[in-house]
Amino acid sequence: QKLPVIALDGPSGVGKSTTAKAVAKALGWQYLDTGAMYRATALALRRAGASLEDREAVERVLGALRISQRGTREFLGDEDVSDAIRTPDVSRMVTPVSADARVREVLVEQQRALAREGGWVVDGRDIGTVVFPDACCKVFLTASVEVRARRRTLELEAKGTPQPFAEVASDIERRDHADSTRAVAPLRRAEDAVELDSGDLDLDQVVAWIVDLHRGRG
Ligand code: C5P
Repeated sequence: QKLPVIALDGPSGVGKSTTAKAVAKALGWQYLDTGAMYRATALALRRAGASLEDREAVERVLGALRISQRGTREFLGDEDVSDAIRTPDVSRMVTPVSADARVREVLVEQQRALAREGGWVVDGRDIGTVVFPDACCKVFLTASVEVRARRRTLELEAKGTPQPFAEVASDIERRDHADSTRAVAPLRRAEDAVELDSGDLDLDQVVAWIVDLHRGRG
């Protein structure tokens, strides 16, 4: 029995969250951004001054961790941290934090508890491989580093926080490398996931493709 969950995995900056949100809307499903959970955890650890080497401090922070998603906003306790978790600082810190086995254990458990009844689109790096291996529909979304960096550079420009293309591209490469070479739950395509290269497609085309795939399998 397959779980009615769409697992959407792929590297940084490939447009997973925008896609996942739109697919959820098209199906009337809920959407879970697991990257935001790792980011919120990194923020909580930093605020507590807990380094990953200090296991007691890490346990304390994880024990008190209250992450929730309300609509498309991310909360830590009652505080809306949606903007605070997207700073360059947190983006750097989240790489070692998400490679920590204990952090992953706690967050994966929360992700499973949330979506266990199905009707969710879940985006991340290990959703099809680790979190929901029994998901009915698995998509591995890709695009070249150049395509992703170009999109991200335009996005940052539009937000009024421009960054040089070369810097954006090397940051994406750094995260690709860290995510795919880490020991715990590395980024990789599940054997039964369908790979989609979004390089030449716009958002509507990607969403329609995933919705069709799901309907065909549902
Ligand atoms: O998707 P996003 O870039 O917001 O994710 C932030 C970081 O969290 C990623 O760089 C990745 O290292 C990590 N992550 C993860 N497993 C997930 C989702 C995100 O390790 N399921």
